[in-house]
Amino acid sequence: MSVDYDTLTKDDAARCAELEALLFGGDDPWPARAFRAELDAGHTHYAAARADGKLVGYAGIARLGRREPFEYEIHTIGVDPEYQGRGIGRRLLNDLLAVAGNGTVFLEVRTDNEPAITLYESVGFVRAGLRKRYYRASGADAYTMRRDPP
Ligand SMILES: CC(C)(COP(=O)(O)OP(=O)(O)OC[C@H]1O[C@@H](n2cnc3c(N)ncnc32)[C@H](O)[C@@H]1OP(=O)(O)O)[C@@H](O)C(=O)NCCC(=O)NCCS
Repeated sequence: MSVDYDTLTKDDAARCAELEALLFGGDDPWPARAFRAELDAGHTHYAAARADGKLVGYAGIARLGRREPFEYEIHTIGVDPEYQGRGIGRRLLNDLLAVAGNGTVFLEVRTDNEPAITLYESVGFVRAGLRKRYYRASGADAYTMRRDPP
């Protein structure tokens, strides 16, 4: 299987929403308009993974603040379940971290999301805090994770 990596466009928004519903069904998955708004925001970067003629993964990061030194926040990362476990998530995450360069990066992740936590820890994220009932729809807790510049 060959996977191509490039940037997300507004034409991908509907497919992103489809994947979101699949991956985050119980946790307020983003609709297509949320992806379009993110891509319009100007301070965001969204990476895409494509295989077999379709979008199979996406990931986005936002720059925080107006002045250097900038901090960054990972907004989302998802891989089509049929394509998970093949290195796509790691590659997308590395793409976001390259955008952040020497900036500190934050993210929130469900405390029971072992695959994602393992991935984040493997690239230097540490648990920085616990946000109770962060996910409103399910009431699930989240860790805030933080990665300082290597
Ligand atoms: C998290 C996610 C993006 C990982 O994508 P992926 O393409 O399957 O990940 P990769 O194949 O690149 O694996 C990268 C690392 O993730 C970790 N990982 C992946 N699947 C795992 C599993 N089932 N259990 C434990 N760790 C796992 C491993 O550390 C792995 O590294 P390794 O292959 O060197 O051991 C994917 O599981 C996903 O889309 N999950 C649903 C959406 C989600 O939870 N997003 C994160 C929200 S904060």
